[in-house]
Amino acid sequence: CGIVAYVGERTAYPILIKGLKRLEYRGYDSAGIALMNEQTHLYKCKGKVKDLEGLVKGQEISGSIGIGHTRWATHGEPNDTNAHPHQSENGKFILVHNGIIENYSHLKKELTNRGYSFKSETDTEVLANLIENIYLEQEVSAELAVRLALTKVVGAYGLVIYCADEPGRLIAARKGSPLVIGIGENEYFMASDATPIIEYTDQVVFLNDEEVAVMDHDHFDLKNLKNDIKTPQVQKIELSIEQIDKGDYEHFMLKEIHDQPTSIEDTFRGRISMDHSKIFLGGIFDVLPKLIEARRIIILACGTSWHAGLVSEYLFEEYARVPVEVEYASEFRYRKPLIYDDDVVIAISQSGETADTLAAIRMVREQSEATILGICNVAGSSISRETDAGVYTHAGIEIGVASTKAFTAQITVLTMMAFLLGHRKKHIADSDYVQMVKALTQVPEKMREILKHEGFIKDVANKYTNVTNALYLGRGVLYPVALEGALKLKEISYIHAEGYPAAEMKHGPIALIDENMPVFVLAIKDDSYEKIISNIQEVKARNGKVVAIVTEGEKTIRKIADDVIEIPGCHRALSPLLAVVPLQIISYQIAVMRGCNVDQPRNLAKSVTVE
Ligand code: G6P
Repeated sequence: CGIVAYVGERTAYPILIKGLKRLEYRGYDSAGIALMNEQTHLYKCKGKVKDLEGLVKGQEISGSIGIGHTRWATHGEPNDTNAHPHQSENGKFILVHNGIIENYSHLKKELTNRGYSFKSETDTEVLANLIENIYLEQEVSAELAVRLALTKVVGAYGLVIYCADEPGRLIAARKGSPLVIGIGENEYFMASDATPIIEYTDQVVFLNDEEVAVMDHDHFDLKNLKNDIKTPQVQKIELSIEQIDKGDYEHFMLKEIHDQPTSIEDTFRGRISMDHSKIFLGGIFDVLPKLIEARRIIILACGTSWHAGLVSEYLFEEYARVPVEVEYASEFRYRKPLIYDDDVVIAISQSGETADTLAAIRMVREQSEATILGICNVAGSSISRETDAGVYTHAGIEIGVASTKAFTAQITVLTMMAFLLGHRKKHIADSDYVQMVKALTQVPEKMREILKHEGFIKDVANKYTNVTNALYLGRGVLYPVALEGALKLKEISYIHAEGYPAAEMKHGPIALIDENMPVFVLAIKDDSYEKIISNIQEVKARNGKVVAIVTEGEKTIRKIADDVIEIPGCHRALSPLLAVVPLQIISYQIAVMRGCNVDQPRNLAKSVTVE
């Protein structure tokens, strides 16, 4: 979900609407705002922010205080009633919430016994009534009522709250779900990330867990739940408006696919010496000895970031000779995993806010002395702050819900780490190292070559827009790329797709192959080239359609496959960075041809801050 709020001297409405549009990538099944002057005006509806604008047209929109929300449903289907903001029964409190109140049914029962009734099915309305109940029964200030209520809550929240008896003031609180406060002159902005704020101020405070901020237009107090006064750490945010504009591209996803040569350069810029003999990762410099001595590397991530982790498993094992386990954070945290003090844990997360990944590293922290590293794209995010050290991917803000440039930036960082570690551990000879590092710096140019043939890739994609299933095959380091290709197709075009290790096809998926089934095969020239040709033959023998991603100039597969897309030759370790690009374009084109909403696919959200 996305939260935006304003207290100050301007009219809040345009700031909120613009902010909600920026945050829409976080969830978009319903939207709402509350505007406060002498009276409170509440507008909310199922649908996108533009539906909300339609609803508000011609209505009262004055007021220099306001809160807004764009929702990704957890409790209760997306409809007008379940949309935020939520108001307490006696109208004293109005609030927006991101996260999940896990003990909401228990709290709801208690409140029902006290005479409260509920309009929505949400956990958020329970919280609104809980705060109001404490406020009225205990006759305390709104701020204290909020703090007391939050001590009873189990779960995660990013909250902005307004109390009708204390006009001119907003209260914000955070646990688990991010909240940033922008500090202007006689005004404050609150949002789930900095994008709605940056055009007004670059001075921000990231709230920490269990902190509560109270803001009047000219005053800001920060406390924790226990009432200790906190000093706000004001930071300067480096994010420009241009970065959050899609320019001439039809969709953010397309822009982000095209950003990749540059975002990869940005990710290795300043980290590789001119002569390619050194990789310098400042963020993990101090913990390098821990990595060198690591008994094992455990990688924790979700979604596309998990695929980047899988790619790196091959690289760390082959080049740095260290055992690696790549785990879904959501599974790892609920098992009884063995974690040793000399393990190194790497959490990979574009947003740095994914609830399961965050909870998993907290579990590691509780159970062991293992070193925890973060690979995040969003600077200042929770995971980047809670890890011992880390390396930022400098992919720039990623808005398309289906991750593209964050993925290749993650692989770039992980590749640099694996090469660096392998070299330090003397598993990579100096001369090979220079060649490998140099090859990495050549990837962006090769990617630009692939993007030049976008028109051709689009023509291939157009042949497969009406399929209902697709299979993606790859071997070795390209197996995770097959998984990622399938995920991209599923996410944005709603076609069922599976990624498989090519050799495993004969143990199951081969049963699905007929003349209607396209099989996307990653078949570049490497050690398993001959084997993958056999896999292609197996598909063709069953009348399947083969789209092969091959190395430039390849001749054998060209004769067997239905469609062939060439990518420039490169070091095998770097092939995932290039091979994924045609798959991203294919998914994008198929989704566009099918009329799908590419940047905001149904049911998904960019940043999943619920468990
Ligand atoms: C969501 C997004 C995915 C992303 C995953 C992990 O599911 O839609 O694109 O890969 O979360 O997000 P993270 O921010 O931790 O990389």
